[in-house]
Amino acid sequence: MPLPMLSSGMNCVADFFTYETTKSVVVKSWTVGVINRAVQLLIISYFLGWVFLHEKAYQVRDTAIESSVVTKVKGFGKYTNRIMDMADYVTPPQGTSVFVIITKLIMTENQVQGFCPESEAKNSCKSHSDCQRPWFSPTGILTGRCVHYNGSFRTCEIQGWCPTEVDSVRAPVMLEAENFTLFIKNSIRFPLFDFEKGNLLPNLTANDIRTCRFHPLTQPFCPILRLGDIVKFAGQDFAKLADTGGIIGIKIGCVCDLDQSWERCVPSYSFTRLDSVSEKNSVSPGYNFRYAKYYKRENGSEYRTLMKAFGIRFDVLVYGNAGKFNIIPTLINTVAAFTSVGVGTVLCDIILLNFLKGADQYKAKKFEEVSLWWGLQKELGHGPHCRDQSEEKQSTDSGAYSIGL
Ligand SMILES: *[C@@H]1O[C@H](CO)[C@@H](O)[C@H](O)[C@H]1NC(C)=O
Repeated sequence: MPLPMLSSGMNCVADFFTYETTKSVVVKSWTVGVINRAVQLLIISYFLGWVFLHEKAYQVRDTAIESSVVTKVKGFGKYTNRIMDMADYVTPPQGTSVFVIITKLIMTENQVQGFCPESEAKNSCKSHSDCQRPWFSPTGILTGRCVHYNGSFRTCEIQGWCPTEVDSVRAPVMLEAENFTLFIKNSIRFPLFDFEKGNLLPNLTANDIRTCRFHPLTQPFCPILRLGDIVKFAGQDFAKLADTGGIIGIKIGCVCDLDQSWERCVPSYSFTRLDSVSEKNSVSPGYNFRYAKYYKRENGSEYRTLMKAFGIRFDVLVYGNAGKFNIIPTLINTVAAFTSVGVGTVLCDIILLNFLKGADQYKAKKFEEVSLWWGLQKELGHGPHCRDQSEEKQSTDSGAYSIGL
């Protein structure tokens, strides 16, 4: 019987080469109708409320903000019987966006080049062999000799700047730094829109600049900030931070909607401690660095004062973006919104074809097979069955799915 087998294979091939076209079935069901409208409403309100109004998807956005920052610190402090002015405690002095206010100094004066014992107890020794290990000394190059530091105490000898620094002493802290003021001048530009703005708003008078102090609620646009306030807004204790040193970030944000007026684009200040890692671990707490001042005696020999400085480093970070209406993102997002409304039909189809009473009837209405050759064979009352009668009805193309019973 070769003929039916042949036509059976042909049927399967014919089954594969089919084309589906959409036929609208109007379902008068309250359940599906309500779900359909609810899902559509949800999608429309998501696009309108979140995507368009909140995220401003109709705008083109410039995130490449250009910015310059100038800083100036003022105030006088008292430190070990010296009055310190900004040239003493601000480093670097150029008024950059990153600068340090030195609050504590450990000074080692009159250092000259030579040979001397190390100062730290952990470098103590009993014989020369203790000093011949190839270890690293923080103060100079080890000579390999063990010498007297004082009457009974012996440490390894180094070659370098002598006498060596003793940094385990307790030094006082310049607490007056709390009352120093910081003036920030910041200009920003959004190159895409050629939009320029700064943190000195046009209604700021010369008198304001002298007297105002920044406060997030009462004086949010005053460019003069008290250091103690900055540290407090960052959630830190000033005396503790001044003792160990630390890094505070002053963030100036400019998020602007250029569809609105120029005046509405204003800076917002926020403060945070940036070196949270040194806050939490005990291995390297705080922030410090060393520098030296060099002098020459009349006979030409050089000496220096070494300083280990602890201080609060301030990083002024400017971030921001600006958006302006543009037709291209508007079109793209509008099309996306309309397309997404169709997502509701997938959900409704699943409910309609599987979970609703009378799903079978809906199924029969929804999927209709039209096959000329197949239909002819069926009408003639013979022909093999490629499909099993109980096979599930499905349409893989459209994504509508129903499990056969
Ligand atoms: C800061 O200034 C206030 C008010 O002038 C003063 O009471 C306070 O003692 C000052 N703080 C320090 C640490 O000097």
